[in-house]
Amino acid sequence: MSTPAAGSVPVATDAPAVELHGITKRFPGVVANRDIDIVVQPGTVHAIVGENGAGKSTLMKILYGMQRPDEGRISVNGEPVSFSSPADAISAGIGMVHQHFMLADNFTVLENVVLGAEPGRLGVLDFAAARRRIREISAAYGLDIRPERMVEDLGVGDRQRVEILKVLYRGARILILDEPTAVLVPQEVDELFGNLRELKAEGLTVLFISHKLDEVLAVADEITVIRRGTTVATVRPADVTARRLAELMVGSDLPSPETRESTVRDEVVLAVEGVTVRAEDGRTLIADVSLTIHSGEVLGIAGVEGNGQAELVEAIMGLRPAESGRVLLSGRDLTGMHTRPRRTAGIGFIPEDRTRQGLLLEATLWENRILGHQTEPPNVSGIWIDRAGARRDCERIVEEYDVRTPNIEVAASALSGGNQQKLIVGREMSSRLSLLVAAHPTRGVDVGAQAAIWDHLRAARAEGLAVLLISADLDELIGLSDSIKVILRGRLVADADPKTVTPEELGSAMTGAGDHRGGPEPSDVDEATADWPASAADGASVGSVGPAGSVGPVGPVGPAGPAAGGAVDEPADPLGGRHREPGGGT
Ligand SMILES: Nc1ncnc2c1ncn2[C@@H]1O[C@H](COP(=O)(O)OP(=O)(O)OP(=O)(O)O)[C@@H](O)[C@H]1O
Ligand SMILES: [Mg+2]
Repeated sequence: MSTPAAGSVPVATDAPAVELHGITKRFPGVVANRDIDIVVQPGTVHAIVGENGAGKSTLMKILYGMQRPDEGRISVNGEPVSFSSPADAISAGIGMVHQHFMLADNFTVLENVVLGAEPGRLGVLDFAAARRRIREISAAYGLDIRPERMVEDLGVGDRQRVEILKVLYRGARILILDEPTAVLVPQEVDELFGNLRELKAEGLTVLFISHKLDEVLAVADEITVIRRGTTVATVRPADVTARRLAELMVGSDLPSPETRESTVRDEVVLAVEGVTVRAEDGRTLIADVSLTIHSGEVLGIAGVEGNGQAELVEAIMGLRPAESGRVLLSGRDLTGMHTRPRRTAGIGFIPEDRTRQGLLLEATLWENRILGHQTEPPNVSGIWIDRAGARRDCERIVEEYDVRTPNIEVAASALSGGNQQKLIVGREMSSRLSLLVAAHPTRGVDVGAQAAIWDHLRAARAEGLAVLLISADLDELIGLSDSIKVILRGRLVADADPKTVTPEELGSAMTGAGDHRGGPEPSDVDEATADWPASAADGASVGSVGPAGSVGPVGPVGPAGPAAGGAVDEPADPLGGRHREPGGGT
């Protein structure tokens, strides 16, 4: 830089932190970015919003050196740059935190942070120096990270901070965060935003992608809207509303997830009876979980990620054996069955990790239509795979679920994240189902497509579909569910009435703030709770808002395990069940 900074504060020159001019990037059949213009001022949070497939991730990958633009110019701190790899971008002070966590679980924070970073002189890692530096960075930006913690003991919010620290450790002054809040619950989002403000105060620049427009309005200094690959506006939060932003993005109104009337019927579709699941090393993952879902009922599970919801889903899907308890579908015992017969029995499954569990990324879209449904029509005819049938039905899904793609012969990896999600939802909703297990069905999906998915879910529910809904989006959870249960450290600890509960109350119950014992150490030395990540326990000490019974409508089934035997001895009776007035919805 030409002008050396005066004084101790590293004041940058007035040059924009990032300038992208005339960026164009073509893929076969798609123009992902077309003549993009963005100017990002230093020391600001600059949000980028747009529909699924608008070109946001592609643009960020270009800025991070993962992809090369076909046309256009990039400057960083006023200097023209041309990156041919992320290493180039890193040395220019750019860091990227990807949506999916990339940390190794069985290593410490320290090891994760130094992993892949430049070792000290002569190739020897100086762990003591690294530890010091992590502490310094953590303190400087209020990240509250301890280098010796094992990553597997951390909750998602902590992991995200470790990812950010890792990028800062490599010297980044410009941070790209691609949908960092998709996996966070409201309290964690607040913490993350606190961290971002801290970074900003230190003169760092943040590029932030999100589909949650109210969050964008809360944290961004400027917002650039991308529509169909090109920049259509850059606005300040004070000058727009979420509705206006949505209009700029898609030209339509903001949807609401509200479910109008109850469609809950008497017939029990799913019964989970006292299911306990342990890890191979003996740790309890879920403890004595019981629940029922009726035909036409959506049961929402609220919880901070990592509190057993994934294991509950796996136990229901037959992906993980239960040590005890039973899983019944319309009275039929599925316990001990593999996943395939469970699916054939009428269970649809939207997995939480779409790229690992939901898709074969290298296979075409129509081949992915067959995945998991290889024994059902329209994918089979007699004993043969019916390619034409699968192709036709894939075309229908692409149409009905608005999957943006040049055609169905492209690989799933060529779809944007949100469009991959739409394809999976469309596929899973296409069989004759009695139960849908939906983990974060609209994760990474834009506001318009989210409304469409909600409509599909509501329609299926009205037809009698039972849904187990897991979502970190509490508005979605409250809006779609007929009843809600809170999961904490592997146990169902409370019921909430979606008609009256607020996201804030739910958030407190999820972190154990409604647990009047407070504190991370379970007094009853119940292995189920003792095993749980400290983050959940940390949360428990945050807000001891008095006895659990006092947090408004979040009435506990039982306190979070103070009594021996814990919370779920009695199968809880979901509110949305037969006690609910027919037609008396929200
Ligand atoms: N490797 C690729 N090969 C072919 N097409 C691609 C590739 N990567 C992205 N695309 C296409 O480029 C367009 C933009 O995708 P991109 O991932 O940038 O969207 P996005 O704005 O990040 O969407 P989302 O909100 O769903 O994550 C999409 O049409 C996508 O299908
Ligand atoms: Mg994306």
